[in-house]
Amino acid sequence: MTTDALASDGLDGVVAADTVLSEVDGSNGRLIIRGHSLDALAGATTFEALAELLFAGFFAGVPDAAQMVGALGRARCEVFDEVGALDARLAALPPFDAVRALVARLTDGDDLATALRLLAAPAVFTAAVVRTQRGAAPIAPDPARAHSADILAMMGGSADAAHHRGCAAALDAYLVTVSDHGLNASTFTARVVASTRAGLTSSVLAGLCALKGPLHGGAPGPVIEMLNAIGTAENARPWLEAALAHGDRLMGFGHRIYRVRDPRADALKRAVRTLMAGSNSIPGRLALAESVEAAALAVLRAHKPNRSLDTNVEFYTALLLEALGFPPEVFTCVFAMGRTAGWIAHAREQVAGGRLIRPQSRYIGPAPKKAA
Ligand code: ACO
Repeated sequence: MTTDALASDGLDGVVAADTVLSEVDGSNGRLIIRGHSLDALAGATTFEALAELLFAGFFAGVPDAAQMVGALGRARCEVFDEVGALDARLAALPPFDAVRALVARLTDGDDLATALRLLAAPAVFTAAVVRTQRGAAPIAPDPARAHSADILAMMGGSADAAHHRGCAAALDAYLVTVSDHGLNASTFTARVVASTRAGLTSSVLAGLCALKGPLHGGAPGPVIEMLNAIGTAENARPWLEAALAHGDRLMGFGHRIYRVRDPRADALKRAVRTLMAGSNSIPGRLALAESVEAAALAVLRAHKPNRSLDTNVEFYTALLLEALGFPPEVFTCVFAMGRTAGWIAHAREQVAGGRLIRPQSRYIGPAPKKAA
């Protein structure tokens, strides 16, 4: 790759780290997380087991999946003490910004206790922010519950035990699916900060900031807006064509690495189907989404015949998180609940084996004026 290409192409094709954590195979649409294919993990692994898988070897004394339930539960309780800092000014911010501000208050460190608090933090803070913004008191975590079940309980979810179990399983599938994904923008950012030896809290905070943007983790909220604006299957094609003619990007489509369908889209679609089959929610929503997806793929093919633009993770993320009762404005916070596990493992891997990340830039500005 030439320097010119590097400068203009967002580091496209540049390998910036060796990792044992995950591999994104963009040509074949496969994701491997620490030796396991996503297909084998999603829907079959709890978030606690996934955290053990990602953290193993990066900390002394990583709890096994069963012990992780209690360890993460205790970490949620410790982090809940910080919810007192959620004053009226913070609560008036968009939820992601309020959560980011609360995470910034956590002590920096490199140990397992810091890692577990960071893993717990987006879950506890998101639930507290949502409830506070609704005028309700935050619900304290229950350390005995598994992480996903407790997230739903802290949000004030359904009291129906069977429905709650189905939702917790779907949330586990989601958190596992988004937990790690190669050197995406937020993980790269977290590794850059880790490479300075700043500490895990600083690395996670940096990852959060990068995740926020609509070209990365901020897309699923706009996917819901798109589905609502389209409304019916018949309206999909004209609406999408008008959006492209206007110069808009279709949220939930396209990816830097995948040239075929993002395998996470299928994992999440399966989770949505399972959830909807076991509940009274409207399958019409899934039918609408499938029509919009088919129309979007057709118009994108016509719009960019030389570029393979397929469905990415965010499209069915939107549908799944909506079905779980999360409001669209916190979808990116829920993404952070899962991806924090990856950021932490990558930060530890960077510190263990990597040097300071310090690329170069090429100066293209004016030369200093010569003295007359
Ligand atoms: N809708 C319309 N056009 C698109 C889309 C899209 N979703 N995605 C890419 N394109 C077009 C671009 O406009 C560009 O056209 P141009 O060459 O005429 O300017 C061309 O395809 C290439 O786009 P790039 O931005 O160079 O592609 P890149 O690989 O950098 O972008 C990205 C990937 C940012 C995800 C892009 O596909 C996009 O903006 N998608 C919509 C937002 C989205 O879904 N984000 C979530 C991504 S998944 C995740 O991060 C968790």
